[in-house]
Amino acid sequence: MVRRKEFFWVAFIALGCLLIIALYQKEPQPIIRSKPVAFQSIQIDDSISEHHISIEQILNLQRYRLKSELYGYKLLSNKSWTDNVLETGGQPIRTLIVTTWRSGSTFLGDIINALPGNYYHYEPLLDYGIIQIRGPPYADSAINVLRNLLNCNYKDLHRYLEFGMSHVYLFTHNKRLWNQCESYPGYCWNPEFLNAFCRTFPFQSMKTVRMRLKLIEELLEDKSFNLKVILLVRDPRGTLQSRRHRDWCPGEPDCDQPNYLCSDMVSDYSAAIRLKQLYPSRFRALRYEDLSLNPYNTTKEIFKFMGLELHNQVKEFLDSHTTYDVGGVSSTYRDSKNAPFHWKTDLNYTEVQWIEDNCKDAMKLWGYVRTKSSNLKNFYPLVPYDIE
Ligand SMILES: *[C@@H]1O[C@H](CO)[C@@H](O)[C@H](O)[C@H]1NC(C)=O
Ligand SMILES: *[C@@H]1O[C@H](CO)[C@@H](O)[C@H](O)[C@H]1NC(C)=O
Ligand SMILES: *[C@@H]1O[C@H](CO)[C@@H](O)[C@H](O)[C@H]1NC(C)=O
Repeated sequence: MVRRKEFFWVAFIALGCLLIIALYQKEPQPIIRSKPVAFQSIQIDDSISEHHISIEQILNLQRYRLKSELYGYKLLSNKSWTDNVLETGGQPIRTLIVTTWRSGSTFLGDIINALPGNYYHYEPLLDYGIIQIRGPPYADSAINVLRNLLNCNYKDLHRYLEFGMSHVYLFTHNKRLWNQCESYPGYCWNPEFLNAFCRTFPFQSMKTVRMRLKLIEELLEDKSFNLKVILLVRDPRGTLQSRRHRDWCPGEPDCDQPNYLCSDMVSDYSAAIRLKQLYPSRFRALRYEDLSLNPYNTTKEIFKFMGLELHNQVKEFLDSHTTYDVGGVSSTYRDSKNAPFHWKTDLNYTEVQWIEDNCKDAMKLWGYVRTKSSNLKNFYPLVPYDIE
């Protein structure tokens, strides 16, 4: 009886493995071999990919792809991007977006990731949960994760990789890596492969919604690391309205309480002043509303800040993502001129005032105007702000 039960479990697990592998295959692969299924399942992940292609072969294809995709593309300094590749001794152009939940970072992250040759570390602190990191106990470990990733060092990131295996959206946004994962699933979570693959890219971007700006100073200090940081800010009325539509937010104080959000905005403002002064060419702030109202010029400015020409593929991304509202809440295909202001119709006036009462300082510092009456139809919420 016991044996029978065991056999069922082995068969069940083996079947599960095969199913997962089958789903990940783009084309049919010879997974069925002569050995009994139950014995194969354990080695199958490695054997498929290694059987077909080596890491070095994948890298060669990748290097070839980069050369063709970036043919003729130069940095604003007129240097070639080939000077910025880690595996040949260069330093990539690294860009980090620091923001909080529902502040437009998926949109900005995707704009930057539309650049060919970009490797995108999407939300590397996902496994910390719905919290803001403002200092101990998580600040050191979180900074380490960011630094390791930006250095293409996955060797000590067990927790990150383990989390990613069961939450693949950690990787799917990094479309150039995810393409490889789909073709060679056996390598997808393999640190040796990830290190080498990451090191072929001249551009790296990252966004995080969980870490407050003042902690990032540590990463800017290292000059050779050459990190550019963009603090992305949004009107708290828009942020909180948008968060209400997420099922993971309500009940989490760091997420659904205006006073937490807005005291972070105030502390980010002080940090922004300091970083702008210390690193004028490597730090900038950006309001989501300004990006949405004027996506082409703002994107051009952002690429200039990164030291890059606006690539045609980035323009094409903007063409297709800034006009019509065709997707759901998480879509970045949207009418960008209206997207930031849905709160005007979606929140009732009591809620608007509750947020404004909790956010007086934050709104004043970042140039968001308080409402004067409940008639919001022609209300324009923006005035200039200044971090100089
Ligand atoms: C880069 O080269 C172009 C022409 O090829 C020239 O017009 C431009 O001034 C150069 N820029 C720099 C920063 O050297
Ligand atoms: C964008 O920049 C161009 C050229 O610099 C300028 O002519 C145009 O008025 C700007 N558009 C907006 C909406 O600011
Ligand atoms: C506004 O919304 C809140 C929460 O959704 C609700 O409790 C309240 O009754 C609403 N107030 C008005 C005036 O509709």
